[in-house]
Amino acid sequence: MKSTGASLSVKGLKKSWGPTEVLTGIDFDIEPGGFLTLLGPSGCGKSTALRLVSGLDEVSGGSILIDGKDVTKVPADQRNIGMVFQNYALFPHMTVAENIAYGLKVRKVAKPVREASLERVAELMSLGPLLDRKPAQLSGGQQQRVALARVLVSERPLVLMDEPLSNLDAKLRTEIRSEIKALNKSLGITVVYVTHDQSEALSMSDTVVLMNAGRVEQVGTPKELYDVPATVFSARFIGTPPMNLLAVADVSLPDGVAASYGNDPADLLIGVRPESMQFPAGGADYSASCRITSIEYEGSVSLLHLTSKSGASFILSHSGDTLPSLEEKITVGWTQSAAHLFSKRTGERVLTSS
Ligand SMILES: Nc1ncnc2c1ncn2[C@@H]1O[C@H](COP(=O)(O)OP(=O)(O)O)[C@@H](O)[C@H]1O
Ligand SMILES: [Mg+2]
Repeated sequence: MKSTGASLSVKGLKKSWGPTEVLTGIDFDIEPGGFLTLLGPSGCGKSTALRLVSGLDEVSGGSILIDGKDVTKVPADQRNIGMVFQNYALFPHMTVAENIAYGLKVRKVAKPVREASLERVAELMSLGPLLDRKPAQLSGGQQQRVALARVLVSERPLVLMDEPLSNLDAKLRTEIRSEIKALNKSLGITVVYVTHDQSEALSMSDTVVLMNAGRVEQVGTPKELYDVPATVFSARFIGTPPMNLLAVADVSLPDGVAASYGNDPADLLIGVRPESMQFPAGGADYSASCRITSIEYEGSVSLLHLTSKSGASFILSHSGDTLPSLEEKITVGWTQSAAHLFSKRTGERVLTSS
């Protein structure tokens, strides 16, 4: 069942509803067999972008190319795209087997071929024992597996998934997450995935397109987004707990950093991830004095909630054995390589040497 994935290229994609522009021109590209995720907060335009790619809605501007062919004006049913939504609409009166094979039947695929495809996908998704049940006799996770199987059996070279796991509990989400990823790799189908959950995006994707208010904030591999956030928005959206952002007044900086920043040093925001902050500070390039306001024990780490001299709150993820005590005044530190500098005014990354 190895199918060849399609390439997808989206250029300057725009969408307005009446006077409201909800997509202001977004661009991204995926290679055949790639896994690209549109990530961003609720309302930023992820579903809109997916619906435009699928052909369910008409674009207000820009173009969509599948395998290099412009399909911007091609009707949805001729784009050869599979879709999985958050609310998997299975036919309640059909069995699991009938639900999965439905699309093939509509396309008049011969019965023996249908049955062979069904058997393969049922095995792949561990649905064999459930084939004769009706959707009402399945758990939410099983129903979503059937919805995925139905799309996979159709062997479309491009599959779009809109928050397909958000109705499932945490354990199932993690399981199906790795199943989807494995299927993408083993079948070679190209996947465009939509989620607001950054950990889902980081764990599954080859490429993440981080969206904010109808535009693209940053495109990169999960590691690029985590290691080199291009903006304050990226820095705060990727990572849990989010990156700390401190004002110059709260931080003791290495010599020359503030001076080498041409603009007003008060415009600098100093970012550091909770897991890159050290306590004790010993030998760090940057340091900050603070007070411990609360301690959250999480098993492998403890989150120290801290308050700076000026009253700003931030978090240190502490993995050492010795915990400081509540209300204690401490100094925390971090290295040059863990520091992310941004302009408060533009929200953009500054002073990046590499
Ligand atoms: N059919 C529609 N008519 C008017 N506004 C819409 C319509 N669909 C979506 N929107 C608006 O477009 C914006 C983006 O929505 P959507 O793409 O669903 O966001 P997301 O999927 O990222 O949560 C939202 O402000 C939403 O209210
Ligand atoms: Mg949505």
